[in-house]
Parts: sequence; C-alpha cells; structure tokens
Amino acid sequence: MMQEKIGLRKLRKLYVAFFESKGHKRLEPASLIPENDPSVLFTTAGMHPLVPFLLGEPHPLGKRLVDVQKCIRTGDIDRVGNETHLTFFEMLGNWSLGDYFKKESISWSWEFLTDKEWLGLDPERIAVSVFAGDSDAPRDSEAAGIWHRLGVPAGRIAYLSKEDNWWGPAGETGPCGPDSEIFYWKLDYEKPPAVFDPKNENWVEIWNNVFMQYNKTREGRYVPLKQKNVDTGMGVERVVMVLQGKTNVFETEAFEPIIRAINDLAGSADLKDNEFAVRVIADHLKAATFILGDERAVTPSNVDQGYILRRFIRRAIRYGRMLGIKDGFCTKIADAAIGIYKDDYPLMKQKSKFIKEQLRIEEERFNRTIEKGLNEFGKVAGKTISKELKELPADAAFLLFQSYGFPIEMTVELAKEKGLSVDKKGFEGLYRKHQEISRKGAEQKFKGGLSDESEKTTRLHTATHILNEALRKVIDPEIRQKGSNINSERLRFDFNFERKLTGEEIKRVEDEVNRVISLDLPVERLEMSPEEAVEKGAQSEFGASYPSKVFVYKTGGYSMEICMGPHVKSTGELGRFRIIKEESSAAGVRRIKAVLE
Ligand code: SER
Repeated sequence: MMQEKIGLRKLRKLYVAFFESKGHKRLEPASLIPENDPSVLFTTAGMHPLVPFLLGEPHPLGKRLVDVQKCIRTGDIDRVGNETHLTFFEMLGNWSLGDYFKKESISWSWEFLTDKEWLGLDPERIAVSVFAGDSDAPRDSEAAGIWHRLGVPAGRIAYLSKEDNWWGPAGETGPCGPDSEIFYWKLDYEKPPAVFDPKNENWVEIWNNVFMQYNKTREGRYVPLKQKNVDTGMGVERVVMVLQGKTNVFETEAFEPIIRAINDLAGSADLKDNEFAVRVIADHLKAATFILGDERAVTPSNVDQGYILRRFIRRAIRYGRMLGIKDGFCTKIADAAIGIYKDDYPLMKQKSKFIKEQLRIEEERFNRTIEKGLNEFGKVAGKTISKELKELPADAAFLLFQSYGFPIEMTVELAKEKGLSVDKKGFEGLYRKHQEISRKGAEQKFKGGLSDESEKTTRLHTATHILNEALRKVIDPEIRQKGSNINSERLRFDFNFERKLTGEEIKRVEDEVNRVISLDLPVERLEMSPEEAVEKGAQSEFGASYPSKVFVYKTGGYSMEICMGPHVKSTGELGRFRIIKEESSAAGVRRIKAVLE
C-alpha cells in the first residue's frame, strides 16, 4: 500500500476495519458538548462519553469498541501555532471494557502501525514511553516487556513519570492508570537517533494507550479497579501528517484548503513571518465551525461553552487584523472547513447556513469594538509601562471586557506581547460583582471528581425519565423531550408546550414525580433493537441515529426510554424532587430546571 494515499478518510476507515477484525463494534461519535458529564465543557477525549462504562456499567455494544471521536481541548491552546497542537482534532480509539488488556492492546497498536496491510509505517522510526513507577503505582515493566518483544529496542523505550505517562482521572477521583505513548520520527531525510529523547520535537506523539487499572479515591489513594479497561487515542491529523511525510499538521488535507483561504484573504501580506497567526486562525475557526455544526450547538456568549466559542472567534479576528484581513472573513474559512469534513459529518453541511450566520453576527459584533478596544489597550498599556509597572490593572482589563468585548485571555495575550501581566484576580472579582454567574465558580463546581459527580448525575438522570412521563400524564399526552442537560446540581429538561405552566400545574408535576419516587419502583435495563423498543412504546429522541442494539430503561411500569444510562437501581434512592424554574427556551419549547433534595 502506498503510504501517500492514506488521507483522513482512508485512515479512519482502516482503523475501524482493523479493530472490527479484532472483534470490536463501532460506536457512533458523541456530540462535542457532553450531555450528562459535568466535569468538562467539551468532549476532550473519546473517554468522556464512556465514563459510566469504564466504571462498570455494561455497554449495549459489548466489551470491545472502536470509534472516531471529534474532540476539543483548550488546555494546550497556547501551543497552537506550533507543528502539531490543535484545539479541535479527531481521535481514533479502541476500547476494552474489562476485556483485553496490555498484551493485546500493545500488539494490535504495533500491527496496525507497522504491518504493510495497514499503515505500513517504518518500525525503525517508532519509539515509546511507559510509566516509570512511583509510590502510588509500580513501574510498568509489563508494557515495556511487550514492546521489547515486538521489536522496539531498549533505547527507544523511555520511562517517564506520572506527569507524562498517566491518564486520568478526569476529575479529582475516578478511573485512571499508566499509559504508553507511541511516537514517530517525523523527518524523512534524517535518521532517528538510537536513543529516544521525548524532548526532541521531531518525535511526534501519535497514539496513547491507557491502561485503566486504578480508581483514585477522595483520599488520594490508587485502588485497583474491579474492571480493567483499555482506552486508546490516536490523533488523526498527526498520523496523516507522518503518513504523508509532512512535518506539520497544517500542510495536510485537514488544513490545506483553510490555509489557502486565509492566504487568499490576506492577499499581499507576507505570510512567512506570520505563520503563527495563520495557524491560530485556521485552528480556531475550524474549532468554531465544528462547535456551531454540532448536534448540540451552542452560540457565542459569556459563559461556559459559548464563552470558549467566543474566544476562538474573537482571537481569530484579532489575528486576522494582524494579517490585514478585515470584514466577513470567518464565513469564508468556515466554508473551507465544511468542505473538508462535509462527507464525514453531514450535519455540518446541513447546518452550514446557521454556522455562517452565527460567525457573521459574532464577527460584526466584535468588529464594532475591536479597533477602539485596541486603541484603549494601547493607551493603558502605555500608561502602565510609563509608570514602570509590570501589571495591567484589573479595572482596565474589565473595561476592555465589558465595553469592548475583549475576552480576558485576549487581554492577557496582548499584555504579554508588551512584556506585561494582568491583574487577573482583581478582574475576576470585578467580573463576579458584575455578572451573576462566575465562570470560575462553574469550574470549581466540578472539582468533586467524576465518580462523585457521577452518583449525583445518575440520580438526576433517573428523575429526568420520571419527569418526562409525569408531564405527559399530568399536563398533556403530546409532550415530548426536546433536550436535556444534567450537571451534579440540577437537571434541565426541554419539552414542546405552547404556554407557561401555572403554579398549580408545576405543583402537580412535582407531586406526581414524588409519588413515583415514593413507590420505590425498580429501574430495569433491557436490551433490544431500537425498532423493537419503539414498538414497545419506549420514548426515543427525535431524529437520533441509534446503533443496532440499545438499552431501554424501564421505571417499574411507569416509564420506558431508550437511553445509554446509567440509572439508579430503584426510585427510592432519589430523595425529594423540586422544580426550581419553569421558563421558555425557544418558540413552543418550555424548560424546567429541577433538583433532588
Ligand atoms: N484518553 C487518552 C487520551 O486522550 C487516550 O484516549 O490521550
């Protein structure tokens, strides 16, 4: 097989086919915006949608899964602009939910990467890292031994600490374990050194095999998990890059049309000196296009996911200005991004009008203030420097945010370019004073860790099923779920209904849910095809595409829904249900927020 021929589509296809040949079932990709996982704003890795199953819930498709998952990560946003770091990327994953472990996982990685039938990469250019061991968990000699037996020389196996070779938990507690990362020497024209130095950036990390064998407890202990899992993640853009002999991801088909569009827009600007700006624009606007093109799209705002989206767009606009690009440019980049991905993510094409409309609105909004804001920044930065101070005062950063729409991260970046820092603490104080919702507060809310959070959200999840049915019973049999979002503190449920519920109706719904809770009905999980489920009267999500087998959760004889779970064992575990808000969410759609006390 000619390596040059393997591009994005072919790589995804080969990966899935390889793992299907090893007994894996393909999982549908999850939304970029996690539905019931409050620990993250975005799906940052394939593991997020799978947390309940990593903790032991059985998965309807079995114990071996393979997927292609779109991901957004902002942790490394400052590194975007180098050769390989991105905020949006696709991750290929194979999963063992308490089935195979290190030996199969590592051997299959090796086979897929090096066998001529598959990727046919040069084994001489591969290096790996394994966990070095510490007082929490021993050195992973097992993984190193497997690599060595497959043909990786000792000099190409690095032992690294927890900082580098440990994955998870996603919150402060939960499943985690040592991992083994796979690197490829990206230079065609220079032989790799015999000894692997992970600091040498010509070694590109392309795949991570996580051996989830511990649960981190609240006390900080690492207790062996009952169910040992494998979670692997391969970066699509990076693998395409090495397969095609490129030295950075922006030269691959994952970016080429976007870079071309930016070059066209910039016209005569000398882009050689502005490589960083071009890459940031390409990365950020692709990420924004995917967020807006998601099944659970959000729009730019000052909170949560909407704020990250705003930051992506506004930072891209600012860098666009540096290249002399002004009006109406975001939509052109979005077109290029949609062009690359439309066949694999058909929803992006369907939603292209919405995506571009939102980008246009946000761009116009920021264009109204950016010029004045930059002037204002120039003035306060000049004043700070002339006073021989090193820190931009909080009120200046807040003015830039409040009056000119500069995300604080943008002000920090602008300040850094002038050798200044920003009084972020002071800014947050002012922000909290002026806004009801503090983003910091929102972040801290999730500190409990996934397993704790997961218990609370599980209860709210079951309450949501009861509420869904109660609304039909008490208010109107035509009511259907239009959306749901759960965090550890409350459930949020959207449904079709034309008018506000009266106080008395709200009370009746609450009473009905509490009645069902007090019956202590068993919650039962059945497994069947989606057609059979619908035939049996199970509620399903309108327009959802389901795999061939699904779980159906039955709450006694009361309600029945197609759902991945997890749920409590019986309704008595839920406590008291209380509706805290009933409001409009869109035309003809009402929204209820409720808690369990
Ligand atoms: N969770 C691991 C990662 O994201 C492997 O998928 O790197």
